[in-house]
Amino acid sequence: MKILAVETSCDETAAAVVEDGVKVLSNVVASSAAMHEKYGGIVPEVAAREQLKCMIPVIQEALSLYSSSERVQPASREVSNVSSRLRSNNIDAIAVTVGPGLIGSLLVGVETAKTIALVTGKPIIPVNHVLAHMYGNFVNHQQIDKVTIQQINNSTINFPAISLVVSGGHTELYLMKSIKDLAWLGGTLDDAAGEAFDKTARLLGFGSRGGVAIQEAAKKCQMINAKCQIKLPRPMMDDESLNFSFSGLKTAILREWKKLESQGLTGSDPVIHALAYEVQEAITDVLVVKTLRAAKKYNAKSILLSGGVAANLRLREKLQRAISHQSSAVSFFAPPAQLCTDNAVAIAACAFFRGKPADWHTITALPDFSVEHSAA
Ligand code: KG4
Ligand code: ZN
Repeated sequence: MKILAVETSCDETAAAVVEDGVKVLSNVVASSAAMHEKYGGIVPEVAAREQLKCMIPVIQEALSLYSSSERVQPASREVSNVSSRLRSNNIDAIAVTVGPGLIGSLLVGVETAKTIALVTGKPIIPVNHVLAHMYGNFVNHQQIDKVTIQQINNSTINFPAISLVVSGGHTELYLMKSIKDLAWLGGTLDDAAGEAFDKTARLLGFGSRGGVAIQEAAKKCQMINAKCQIKLPRPMMDDESLNFSFSGLKTAILREWKKLESQGLTGSDPVIHALAYEVQEAITDVLVVKTLRAAKKYNAKSILLSGGVAANLRLREKLQRAISHQSSAVSFFAPPAQLCTDNAVAIAACAFFRGKPADWHTITALPDFSVEHSAA
């Protein structure tokens, strides 16, 4: 089954064609991140306007890349026409992110996907963006990235599995009893882990590059092997629940930053790199401890990491190490970096494994789409 998926929940505009939830036939992502740089964060209206401009070209590119990879001959001469390409390319269904996310951005993807479904008569499958992230783990990564954790392990995902989804707006733990049978276990009570990375990056003068900038600054600290004098709290790490809280950490970071700022230190100073390092350690420590607690509680055979923050190399390294310490019977999976951040491949995979086609009349953008109840 070949699915054309569309994703526009935040500032990315993405489209992909995926076969049977695992084989990536094309994957296109356009981002308006650079346009938000001067505002210090995503401006929803700017994101939606850009998405309006590039939605159709992105879909066209995804279909055209797929045609060339499969050597599909278009049935008509109108090769640039989305609807004729869909007919000739044997696409079986359309999948689309309906939420959670920014309303203006979601509307662009949802209304485009509905129109395509209506014009072509293909079924349309609504998808929850947060749940979709975890399905990036089921995609055949060899085609995308030569060195991935999945290949290193050379193992398949066995159930029950614990799935940690960490993104800019979400930090959620799920129990996967099977590929489609999910239960929500816990999530953040306030800020998400990605939000903590993003707010810290802005505070330390790294602009809107978020977790990537913190990771780079932290690496500089590791390289000079500086002893970090700064100690930040690990909120709720010892709490038995599977919930998280990162807003107290943000306050503690602000306190440390004010001390450094009053000494006239800037983003290029080694002490600022040391602060970035400690921020990364604090966030990743909490994520690792909670995930392992969940794995132990539910006798997990696999642990799946996903979402934008899953691209963080320190988190991947620490989780991998902690898992092999705890049990040799538990395997660790994380998608390659380009499938951690927002993309349409994961949307297609989720639609294939647990999606249900719906009447296009009933499909609507759901900015607050529940990540707890949608799992059930
Ligand atoms: O999943 P995603 O692309 O969008 C949302 O659904 O929110 O996640 C974006 C988040 C941002 O907070 C970004 O700072 C974070 O993922 N992120 C990282 C890294 N790459 C992206 N955080 C830490 N380390 C990274 N390398
Ligand atoms: Zn996301």
